[in-house]
Amino acid sequence: MRIVVLVSGTGSNLQAVIDAVKERELDVEITAVGADRPGTYGLERSAAAGIPTFVVDFKAYTNRAEWNAALTEAVAAFEPDLVVSSGFMRIVSPEFINAFNGKYINTHPALLPAFPGAHGVRDALDYGVKVTGCTVHWADAGVDTGPIIAQEAVAIEDSDTEESLHERIKAVERRLLVSTLASLAAASHS
Ligand code: GAR
Repeated sequence: MRIVVLVSGTGSNLQAVIDAVKERELDVEITAVGADRPGTYGLERSAAAGIPTFVVDFKAYTNRAEWNAALTEAVAAFEPDLVVSSGFMRIVSPEFINAFNGKYINTHPALLPAFPGAHGVRDALDYGVKVTGCTVHWADAGVDTGPIIAQEAVAIEDSDTEESLHERIKAVERRLLVSTLASLAAASHS
């Protein structure tokens, strides 16, 4: 299974996927890693692992439609079986979704449909829920919407800050992303 991973930030989930492939725990080919801005640590991690990278810089385009078209073209060039939004903090267009119909997944640090968006951890903490978690789902053109593939709960401690809670969620999220990819890869072989 050829995958393209899209990142915006530090890429710790991406690193978990890279490590699982290296350890032969996960049978996928990371064909490329793409970002919406230059200079992200996720790109550095990929380059260090010898994975091709590309940037479709959101700020370099005059409008969202042009950026989406460029992103779609850049991703399609790698002919992926699956596109993974892993901390990719941009909403893609319906055209992108159509181009990768049934092939686009996203990971999110909350139990969707609760707390979508860029601050899922902070919003859960602010609301005062006692349990949150992470979700891997088929992504559509909405904000963290689409059919859920896998979820895991994480308890919130009274002493939690956004940082401490996000770290605990990410530890679970990395495992969930890798196991979801393993299941999808196994299904694609059968
Ligand atoms: C992850 O927790 C991911 O779920 C979240 O960004 C973090 C990226 O961490 N994504 C969203 O909030 C999407 N709405 P990473 O760059 O260290 O993998």
